[in-house]
Amino acid sequence: IQLSAERLEMKLGDRLSREDAEALRRSTGMIVSQVAALKAMVDDFRDYARLPAPEPTRLDLNALVGEVLGLYEDSRVPITKRLAPELPAVWADGAQIRQVIHNLVQNAQDALENVRGAGRSPAIEVRTEPAGDRVRLAVSDNGGGFPEELMARIFEPYVTTKPRGTGLGLAIVKKIIDEHHGSVAIENQPARGASVTVLLPLAKAA
Ligand SMILES: Nc1ncnc2c1ncn2[C@@H]1O[C@H](COP(=O)(O)OP(=O)(O)OP(=O)(O)O)[C@@H](O)[C@H]1O
Ligand SMILES: [Mg+2]
Repeated sequence: IQLSAERLEMKLGDRLSREDAEALRRSTGMIVSQVAALKAMVDDFRDYARLPAPEPTRLDLNALVGEVLGLYEDSRVPITKRLAPELPAVWADGAQIRQVIHNLVQNAQDALENVRGAGRSPAIEVRTEPAGDRVRLAVSDNGGGFPEELMARIFEPYVTTKPRGTGLGLAIVKKIIDEHHGSVAIENQPARGASVTVLLPLAKAA
């Protein structure tokens, strides 16, 4: 479709009046960009549907969190780490949990974009702590919180309030954590903002 649109523009472009050529250029430009957007959506969905099964190993969650958050050091919103010392190792796929952390931190950042200048300073906190026979990972922010009407469907693919969102971020988080035999929950904090809590199984005793 993209090629045909471009060919159409090339072929007709110099046979038309300036005005018609301009209209043609706008229309073919629209076709090309919409096709690109569709392609991106299909690619994202394929990644979601084809998410490989996790390959879990003994994983130091604190170290992974530290590594991922290192990539956000220059971001405009400060991220506070509250990592439990001597956290037991979890049984998880490092690459997939990395993706989970990214998706949650990106959502927290997005949530804080809109509240900028609303009188409070934007903040994100990433916390780890032991929780019985599991380890808890929580990402919280002081943005506007989850839209109440979306909370029941928030883990479904394509549920989004963002003009350029795919709505796959939390669906991917949910799928990854389910496959890890863990659990994930969202909640709005009474004071302000959203919080996502993930529970992961402990690594088997060495
Ligand atoms: N920390 C948060 N605070 C408030 N709302 C949130 C937060 N995280 C997610 N949401 C809401 O949940 C919706 C779904 O999030 P999800 O990550 O699945 O998709 P998305 O962020 O919209 O798209 P993408 O992940 O492709 O950027 C968001 O559009 C937003 O409305
Ligand atoms: Mg997202």
